[in-house]
Amino acid sequence: LASVEVDVSAVEVGQSITVTWRGKPVFIRQRTEKEIAEANAVPISDLPDQFARNANLEDGADASDVNRSSTGKEAWLVMVGICTHLGCVPLGEAGDFGGWFCPCHGSHYDTAGRIRKGPAPENMLVPPYQFAENDTIVVG
Ligand code: FES
Repeated sequence: LASVEVDVSAVEVGQSITVTWRGKPVFIRQRTEKEIAEANAVPISDLPDQFARNANLEDGADASDVNRSSTGKEAWLVMVGICTHLGCVPLGEAGDFGGWFCPCHGSHYDTAGRIRKGPAPENMLVPPYQFAENDTIVVG
């Protein structure tokens, strides 16, 4: 299926954009140092879902921050913006963990898009993607 090429040169630190891939919203965020540090500070054993859910990694990879982002491009978080509970679109920069909040039934995701509280069973999905050039992300 078609991939989507996204120019992220205008996305500054602390900003997000939403693009559409296969009819789904994909959140692309350039995270702040603080957001990355907060995500790294959480022991994986504390996470409700300890898997990376990252299509670019082997099944079973753990949900460390780098496994949720991309080696060398840790600031960038790319994920399908669909709550893993019943499919609502979470709100950004919201919730108890400074990441995303799904208002449908109250799921809180952290700054790596990992579920931390509420009914959602899994971390938001990281789709297949790669950096084609420094400022371009190809999703799919
Ligand atoms: Fe997000 Fe239910 S759909 S909490």
